[in-house]
Amino acid sequence: MSESSIIEASGLVKAFESHGSSGGMIPILGGAVLDVRPGERVAIQGESGVGKTTLLNILGGLDRPDHGTLLHRGSPVPQGQAARARWRRKSVGFIFQFHGLLSDLTALENVALAGLISGWSRRDAFGRSEQLLGKLGLMGRIAHYPEELSGGEQQRVATARALLHGPSLVLADEPTGNLDPETGAQVFDLLMRQQEETGFALIVATHSSKLAARCHRILRLVGGVLKPSREGL
Ligand SMILES: Nc1ncnc2c1ncn2[C@@H]1O[C@H](COP(=O)(O)OP(=O)(O)O)[C@@H](O)[C@H]1O
Ligand SMILES: [Mg+2]
Repeated sequence: MSESSIIEASGLVKAFESHGSSGGMIPILGGAVLDVRPGERVAIQGESGVGKTTLLNILGGLDRPDHGTLLHRGSPVPQGQAARARWRRKSVGFIFQFHGLLSDLTALENVALAGLISGWSRRDAFGRSEQLLGKLGLMGRIAHYPEELSGGEQQRVATARALLHGPSLVLADEPTGNLDPETGAQVFDLLMRQQEETGFALIVATHSSKLAARCHRILRLVGGVLKPSREGL
């Protein structure tokens, strides 16, 4: 049924070289399987160091598995680096724990830059960025520099940057991990509202059980594989 999946991963295997004295490879993923539909919100939980970030990076084409297949809307994710980067820019939005905004650019410029890099006209890049920042409640903040924004506002700008291209898949890696619970919940609310409006699939790695409970499914990464945890919504 891959036609109706946004992302379908099977048999994902990944090991990293050990930097310790013993050398060798450390297995991280051991055959992880995941299938996420449009509009679906899936939480991934698991101990620190278990491989959540590694998994998200593979799902979004930032890293490659040693084995396994990855289909986006039923078609293989491109293997070559340049084609994969193009695919990623068009189809995937990343939100990280630390916002990663450029300190010399305003909120608006930080978001618009993503469009300019893709060759959009200035008018399109700035126009669409302003509209999106407005939807994320930041209209009064667009000319502010990151250091003039609160942590929640910074993360909302990072969210706008991730959503600018209208991705079909959004990967959020501990998106509220650096925020107090209340602010984190507000940021996640806004992300969920955007998801309801545009229907992207959302996969979120989180330590927060409150945030996970607002997802349709909760999966636990244990021993390199994903296991269903208790049901979400
Ligand atoms: N590029 C890398 N090279 C070597 N080891 C790595 C690399 N990336 C992650 N690891 C290791 O893989 C394990 C899983 O890391 P990570 O995916 O960041 O886990 P999590 O996000 O669940 O905390 C950790 O032991 C980490 O040190
Ligand atoms: Mg991580």
